[in-house]
This record gives sequence, structure tokens and C-alpha cells, in this order.
Amino acid sequence: MNGRDRFLAACRCEPLDRPPVWIMRQAGRYLPEYRALKEKYSFKEMVETPELAREVTLQPLKRFPLDAAILFSDILVIPEALGQSYDFRETGGIEMAYSISTRDQVDALDSSGITEKLGYVAGALKLISESLAGEKALLGFGGSPWTLSTYMVEGGSSKDFSKLKALMKEDPETLMALLEKITEVTIDYFEMQVASGVDAIQIFDSWAAACPLEKYEAFSLSYIRRIVNHFKGRIPIILYAKGVTDRLPLLVESGVQVLSLDWTVDLAGFKKEWGDKVCVQGNLNPDLLNGSPENVRIEALKLLDSMKGVGGHVFNLGHGIQPTATVENMEVLIKTVTEYK
Ligand code: CP3
Repeated sequence: MNGRDRFLAACRCEPLDRPPVWIMRQAGRYLPEYRALKEKYSFKEMVETPELAREVTLQPLKRFPLDAAILFSDILVIPEALGQSYDFRETGGIEMAYSISTRDQVDALDSSGITEKLGYVAGALKLISESLAGEKALLGFGGSPWTLSTYMVEGGSSKDFSKLKALMKEDPETLMALLEKITEVTIDYFEMQVASGVDAIQIFDSWAAACPLEKYEAFSLSYIRRIVNHFKGRIPIILYAKGVTDRLPLLVESGVQVLSLDWTVDLAGFKKEWGDKVCVQGNLNPDLLNGSPENVRIEALKLLDSMKGVGGHVFNLGHGIQPTATVENMEVLIKTVTEYK
């Protein structure tokens, strides 16, 4: 069974001898060959040049026998295409060109020609798809409207989301107009990804937990559901959310095929309760990859054993891999999963 078939079978919750495996934010800074390329090109140059984006996408697959590849890009290409560009702070984190606080600013975002503006993504996906030749699954992705709005309203990475919370309270219509605009362009963007050969799409609601539980349906889930319904029956959608133990039943009702959860959730227990509605992805703690290889093996085996015979599990970390993770630990992790019996 090749990686693509294994991945797609897990997304249909079919039982398998071992789960498919890929690693979130796998093209990250932990790989020396990625850092070498970054000496020569900026992050954006790599994202916007299809040949370079292909190279970075395939780097982890050249080292490890992964079952799927995730496009090298960023969720922030959507705000940029709307006219609000992003950059990196010297001290770490994201800096947007400005922050959005008024209805006029939302109306000024230019949602026309998204697929033309992001044509470099289609170019990269076509090259990657050719290289994978149907042997490995290819994942496209994008941010949830809510998670993208955190960057757009805060003007970058934030610790307390104070501007967003104030806007939600004082002018919810403006926030909803923004979420609406992001939803519309995201649907066009994902259509383009599908036409360019992706096998599945992952929506990152990484900042789900910044939305108060009683507002989550109105400000995040309803927009995600619109995107999911649009693609229903055509392509599996994976929804990643972090720190969401208080809203698991809501997430199950999103209609996605696969929920990607962090390490605070007991995956086997979750699968027992909701396994008839959704498959799961995850959820090893990425911190483990900074520790000893033996511990990586032990914890990976614990997770594999707990999910044995359950089906519908895509093995992954509970969040993106850190730049400090060691290549040796990744080797041990992938070997443990792919040789599991
Ligand atoms: O494996 C991959 O490379 C997949 C591509 C990918 C990236 N970002 C590349 C990237 C994906 C799926 C993302 C998603 C993304 N981007 C999310 C959602 C996932 C998550 O982490 O919860 C978010 C919130 C972003 C926004 C973003 N982009 C952040 C917060 C950062 C880190 C900034 C910092 O200073 O730490 C980025 C940069 C980024 N995106 C890198 C990569 C490989 C690191 C760039 C570098 O320094 O070389």
C-alpha cells in the first residue's frame, strides 16, 4: 500500500496495520538543508517561487519515509493577497503591515483575483504533484477565518488578543464582515488547490482557544462549516485546533472527516466517544523531539498501542515541529511508526 492510499484510507476511518504518518510544519527550521536554503533566499522568496517551494516541500520526504507531504507556504498568504502583507519580527513572531479595526478597512481589502495573485501556489502544487507521482498524499492548507482574523486585527502575533476581543465586543458586525470576506476568498483558494492536485486540505484553527467558548460557533465554527460544506464529498478536510478540550463536541459537528488534536486530548478515549462521526490526527507532544530518542520511541509506541485496531488515525504531532527538534529524534519517530506491527 503506498503512502497516498494509506493516508486516504485513514481519512475514511478504515482499519490499517499501521497509521499513515506526516509531520506538521515539517519543512521547518530543524532541517539543516532548509537552513542552508534560507541563507540564500528569504522565506517569502521560497514561498513565491514554485521550484523552491517544491524543493522545501520535498526535503523531509527525502530523509524520512513519510506518507504525505504538506505544501510549503503559509496561512498568511491570504491576508497578503487581500492587501495586508506580513513580515517577521526580529524578536520572533509575525508583524502585519497594519492592524484592522474599522469597517472601512475591511471594505478596502481587495478580494478580487485571489487565484491570480496566489498563482505561485498553483504552480508549486503542480510541480510537487508531479514529483510525488501519486505515491504520497499531497496536502494543501489554509488558516481558518477566525485564526487569520487574529493576525489581521492584532496586526501580528499576539499574547492576549486584546484588540480582537475589543472588536468582538464593540463592533461584532465589522469582525463578521472580515470573517465573511476571508471565508469567500478561502473557498476560491481551496478550489485552486484542488484543481492543482491536492489530495486533502487542512484548515488550521490554531487560535481556536482565543475565542470564548460561547462565541465559538458564531465567530469560528460557522465559517469553517461553510468551507467544509462547499467541499463535501469531494476531498477530505482535516481541521486542526489547539487547546480545545472544552469544545470537542462542537468540533465534531464541524462536518470535517478528520480532527487534528493536540496532546492534551486522549485520542483513544476521544475515538471511542466520537469515532462514528470523525477520524483523528495527532497527537504526540512536539517537545518530546527535543529530548532523548529512547523517550520518543516509548511515547510513540504508547500512542500507537492505545490506537491499535481502532482505525481512522493519522499519526502526527499535536502541533508544529520546533526548530530545536533533532533530526535523530525525527528518524526514531518515523521508524517507530512505519515499522509498527
Ligand atoms: O511544513 C511546512 O512547512 C508546512 C507549511 C506551513 C508553514 N506555516 C511554513 C512556515 C504551514 C502549514 C504553516 C501554518 C501556519 N503559519 C500557522 C498554522 C499552524 C500553526 O503553527 O499553528 C500559523 C499560525 C502560521 C503563521 C506563522 N508563520 C507563524 C506563527 C510563524 C513563525 C514565526 C516565528 O518567528 O516563529 C510562521 C513562519 C513559518 N511558516 C515558518 C515555516 C517553515 C518558519 C520560517 C523560518 O523562520 O524559516
